Amino acid sequence: MSKYLVTAALPYANGPLHIGHIAGCYLPSDIFVRYLRLMNRDVKFICGSDEHGVPITLRAKKEGVTPQEVVDKYNAIMRDSFKEFGISFDIYHRTSDKVHHETASGFFKNLYDKGVFTEEVSEQYFDEAAQMFLADRYITGTCPKCGNANAYGDQCEKCGSSLSPRELINPHSQLSGQPPILKQTKHWYLPLDKMQEEWLNKWILSKEDSWKKSVFGQCKSWLDQGLQPRAVTRDLDWGVPVPVADSQGKVLYVWFDAPIGYISATKALLPNDWESYWKNPDCKLIHFIGKDNIVFHCIIFPAMLKAHGDYILPDNVPANEFLNLEGDKISTSRNWAVWLHEYLVDFKDKQDVLRYVLCATAPETKDNDFTWKDFQDRNNNELVAILGNFVNRTLVLTGKYFENKVPARGELHEADKVCLEAIATIPQQVKESIEKYRFREALASMMDLARAGNKYLADTEPWKLAKTDMSRVQTILNISLEITVALASLCEPFLPFTAEKIRTMMNINARDWSEAFTGNLLSEGHSLGQAALLFDKIEDDAINAQIDKLNATKAAKAAEESATAEATALKPLKDVTTYDDFVKMDLRVGTILTAEKVAKADKLLKLTIDTGIDQRTVVSGIAMHFSPEEIIGKQVTLLANLAPRKIKGIESNGMILMAEDADGKLVFVQPSRTTTPGSTIA
Ligand code: MF3
Ligand code: ZN
Repeated sequence: MSKYLVTAALPYANGPLHIGHIAGCYLPSDIFVRYLRLMNRDVKFICGSDEHGVPITLRAKKEGVTPQEVVDKYNAIMRDSFKEFGISFDIYHRTSDKVHHETASGFFKNLYDKGVFTEEVSEQYFDEAAQMFLADRYITGTCPKCGNANAYGDQCEKCGSSLSPRELINPHSQLSGQPPILKQTKHWYLPLDKMQEEWLNKWILSKEDSWKKSVFGQCKSWLDQGLQPRAVTRDLDWGVPVPVADSQGKVLYVWFDAPIGYISATKALLPNDWESYWKNPDCKLIHFIGKDNIVFHCIIFPAMLKAHGDYILPDNVPANEFLNLEGDKISTSRNWAVWLHEYLVDFKDKQDVLRYVLCATAPETKDNDFTWKDFQDRNNNELVAILGNFVNRTLVLTGKYFENKVPARGELHEADKVCLEAIATIPQQVKESIEKYRFREALASMMDLARAGNKYLADTEPWKLAKTDMSRVQTILNISLEITVALASLCEPFLPFTAEKIRTMMNINARDWSEAFTGNLLSEGHSLGQAALLFDKIEDDAINAQIDKLNATKAAKAAEESATAEATALKPLKDVTTYDDFVKMDLRVGTILTAEKVAKADKLLKLTIDTGIDQRTVVSGIAMHFSPEEIIGKQVTLLANLAPRKIKGIESNGMILMAEDADGKLVFVQPSRTTTPGSTIA
């Protein structure tokens, strides 16, 4: 029987987890893995943090700490949140670990030795002030596809296009804010163009029926555009060093090393047995990811695995779309998110409520929206009113009439048979949906069983029959208890905490899904445990508090934006003046002949200006903006008939005109081409 290796995208260890991460890949993968385990399949569930790459070093710079401190901090926070939320990884590893460095390094070396890579010297952006090449997110600029002014060197988050730094319009460095220069550097490339011809086209096309439409469609469009060689190394000092000679200051590209993290994590988990997964054609490799990761998991990583030759390729990559929050894109930088660690505090012991809502609204085929109102409604109208209500009524009635013992089943009526039928068929639907990665549908089927149970109790009204026909009540509760047993098991992948609670209340063990579900699992007289409420109503107060928190975030952001807008606003127009007043000013072109700093005056430069009619001294307050050397020879506009004035003991005869932008940056007002000094301006 085949084995399964299920991976969930390694999240960057540069910020806490939010509901978008969970809905996108961690919850679906957890549901899938829990299902496989219940089916008794051999599965390993792999994840860990992605601890290299520019997002980490940028965050370190922002926080004024080392990259290692950043990843240590977030690795711990994320690991805890996952655990508390019931995401049941077999291992949560990290790419800064030694095992990973060795594995990634060895992988590169293997491909390098086989001559897989091409080597290329090219010109790349370099920040002269920071003396650093500007890889990926160190450079931002305007997206050539959609005009977003804040696109990154590797990707535009607005339109989702993947970019290379040279495509950006008006690029500037994230380090100094300055436009970069170009400088030569050598890198190694994965020849995807060649691989496309050799096998990638065919391999991807063979996935048309088994992969999600959106995933296949994205791959197809990459192929249709024609793949290009991809650099797999970077000039950076944080990452896995390139393990070949003459590669000082270079590391593996984070998207080269991170997916190898799946292999390293498996090695760390099973030092002696990892190959029976990774090198076993009978093992299914399944990558759960968000849609922004599709190209890396469907094209680039498979290309690496194939080039290596020893490893299996992914069987499926069930990527989800994005989850929005209250109608807006989730954004870490704008703090527009529901943070998992905060949820776990605000809604203590309500992990399953969020799991339920995120599964029920999962962005499986299109982007979807999370709203707190919907969260409340689904809790109150579905979890409380349907699942919780059914289980509670069944247990309370059994306690009341039968001293908490399973009553005997009598002759079956039509309604009883309908329920027994549902116990047998609904699990089949749940399984089939999960196998197809349709978790919303699977969850809805599970809830259908609870709905059927509720309807059964409402239709048969055992509390009324108790006065007239106790043997009928026995049968109804016997069957209701069987439905509860089935629900305890069926809700396990989605609501593991609830499953455990129901098992305790029913005094039963977890069961294997590989055996058929039947309505004959409880023996007569079996003693039940203590009944307790599974879910409770979430009141408006709790929801409003969350909405207020989001609104406060929005308001703070808006205030911040309007403050910067104000700070950068242009000065208002001055009062009207007359032509006669204007022509009183003698404005002419001058050329700066000499420039020097004025002693004990940080802001002043002493200039000699050739005005055409004379050479004169002008003291100008521009020393913070220009060095003397850079302005010698420049032409300027001079107000030549300004009354002389002594500044720091030097007589200044005139004033140079400058243009000042909203940020306070100064530039000279100059003729559009060099002209004769003394030319008048009017
Ligand atoms: N860290 C990446 C992200 O958050 C995902 C890496 S997945 C892996 O988008 F395959 F590279 F590990
Ligand atoms: Zn764009």
